[in-house]
Amino acid sequence: MTKAPLLVTCGLPYTNGPCHLGHLRTYVPADCYVRYMRRTGEEVVFVSGSDNHGTPIVVSAEEQGTSPRALSERYHKHFDETFRRIGVNFDYFGMTDDPANHHRTQEIMSRLVKNGYVYKQVVHQAYCPKCKRFLPDRYVEGTCPYCGKQARGDECDQGCGKHLEPGEIKDPVCKVCGTKAEFRDQEHYFFKLSAFKDYLLPFLDQLKGTSNAKNYAIGWIKDELHDWCITRTLEWGVKFPGRNDLVVYVWVDAPIGYIAFTEEWAAKAKKDWKRYWCGENRVTHFIGGDIIYHHCIFWPALLKGAGYGEPYAVVASGMVKVDDHKFSKSRGYVVWTNEDYLDKGLPADYLRYYLLAYTSHTKELNFSWKVFGERINNEVVNILGNFVHRTLFFAHKEYGGVPAGVVDPAITAEIGKCLASVDKQMQEYEFKGAVDTILALAAFGNTYIQTNAPWKLIKTDRAAAAQVIKNGIQIAKALALLIEPVMPGKAQECWAQLGYDDMVAAHRIDEAMGIVPERALKAPAPLFSKLEEKQIAGLDAVLQQRVKEANKKMEKTPMISIDDFSKVEMKTGKVLAAEAIPKSSKLLKLQVDVGGETRQIVSGIAQFYKPEELVGKNVVVLTNLAPAKIFGVESNGMILAAGDAASLLAPEKPVEPGTKIR
Ligand code: 2FM
Ligand code: ZN
Repeated sequence: MTKAPLLVTCGLPYTNGPCHLGHLRTYVPADCYVRYMRRTGEEVVFVSGSDNHGTPIVVSAEEQGTSPRALSERYHKHFDETFRRIGVNFDYFGMTDDPANHHRTQEIMSRLVKNGYVYKQVVHQAYCPKCKRFLPDRYVEGTCPYCGKQARGDECDQGCGKHLEPGEIKDPVCKVCGTKAEFRDQEHYFFKLSAFKDYLLPFLDQLKGTSNAKNYAIGWIKDELHDWCITRTLEWGVKFPGRNDLVVYVWVDAPIGYIAFTEEWAAKAKKDWKRYWCGENRVTHFIGGDIIYHHCIFWPALLKGAGYGEPYAVVASGMVKVDDHKFSKSRGYVVWTNEDYLDKGLPADYLRYYLLAYTSHTKELNFSWKVFGERINNEVVNILGNFVHRTLFFAHKEYGGVPAGVVDPAITAEIGKCLASVDKQMQEYEFKGAVDTILALAAFGNTYIQTNAPWKLIKTDRAAAAQVIKNGIQIAKALALLIEPVMPGKAQECWAQLGYDDMVAAHRIDEAMGIVPERALKAPAPLFSKLEEKQIAGLDAVLQQRVKEANKKMEKTPMISIDDFSKVEMKTGKVLAAEAIPKSSKLLKLQVDVGGETRQIVSGIAQFYKPEELVGKNVVVLTNLAPAKIFGVESNGMILAAGDAASLLAPEKPVEPGTKIR
């Protein structure tokens, strides 16, 4: 029986921030797996894309004063380029806002409605009386009803990790204006997840992938399964069929993106996308450990309900920590792929190696620059690089290249053993085990060369020394072929040093058993260079500085008493005149009427206001600030403004200049 084609996907990154180590923890192993499987002769399609919908994007776009589409396009391009730079090569990288995904999502929704798995229900939805709008998902923050920790509207992100349904969060507060939200009734659509309990247990039982995904999901399913509200009151997203006022929940159209991207790829590659999704398939999802529920419970039920084939395997990566702290952008414990790594000229292959070799795929990865430096120097440079270089250097120096002859059967057997072990581990998503096995072959090679000392042997027996080198070169060939899924760039360099003029990735892994023929080689350059202690210290300093700055930002402003506040004098004012301050791009000199008195005030708002647009404006002035000279100009007070764009504060209703603020 022919195997169903293998389709590998990666959890989609939201388009509201740059690529970081947390993303790579899933993407690099997925890419490694795809490369490896292709090189065993499997036909593999590798798709992913960016996740453009939902409140994460809408809230970020609003904060940045841009549209969700523009923000999504910016970060989509960023992820596409970054993945290429790190060697993660998708066959297709789409956008969930692509027409193909709108179409497929609506088609699947309509099928679910037709099959009786969707029903309408009135829910108590958080509503902000000040912003006058409903507050879906990340528009609202409050307390988790399950564990009592601070949570987002749809997810207990700081505590137990549970998915929260609209209306479940306690003490909801509007994320935009901080007002206490109230609950109002609104009609929404629900997916009957509870109807799939009997289907899901046997499904999970046979699900392939990593045990963490399967076991968590089985544990959850033994509890009650709640139906999911699958619509939201948002403009941005995929419209629920027949309802222009509602879009589907982002967790509906995001995984459907996997199908839509396969369709988009298939249209270009002239293939039939249904082969991958309908009936027998081998759809393998690589995801972060935080989205197991979505991929092992919600998504298979959605597919089943709509009559599609269910996933074949779910491979979930363990958490990432930085310097023993929970990965956190706001606390500074983050490593950005471009800014902190690639833009500094560090090799993509080093980071790929570290991510794959640090620990098992399902375990916690605790990143630190120190350990990164140590592992690269001790393993990649000292073991792998040293073996390949010493062998090829000697071969070139003494024999001008690969000597004639055959490889010792004991060496071939060692290579064969390594190939079998790597294969078993790759098939089981044990990437660390596979990399360790490859490095063990390099270590074996080093010991072999060291023990046989061809530099001594050549003085008495040139042919025997040639045999040692012939054997060493065969090991180097196996290493180049095996390490390609881990370090594709370096593997290619090694392949070229062995005298091959094509792509190592075009060769099957089992060609490692095929002899390297006698031929001339060029003088080899070392494959890897050490990371210097100073360089590592510099990289670490950037991280420590970021953590320090984040801490400072987080430090709470101290509380003050009403007596403290009464020391502050603020009055309304009217700008009478404004002019630029020569040689300053930021400062303006203003004359402000603060009620029977004109104050000269220097204000740092030149980037946001032209002098002429300020004249006549009502403002709020801090009037008892001690006078100061700014840029050599006397300033007597301060104009109040809010936010990064320095929006000037003004009284809502007209009041006379000089009115006290109380
Ligand atoms: O959690 C996340 O970052 C989501 N953007 C992942 C979506 S994966 C999928 F289902 F599409
Ligand atoms: Zn919780």
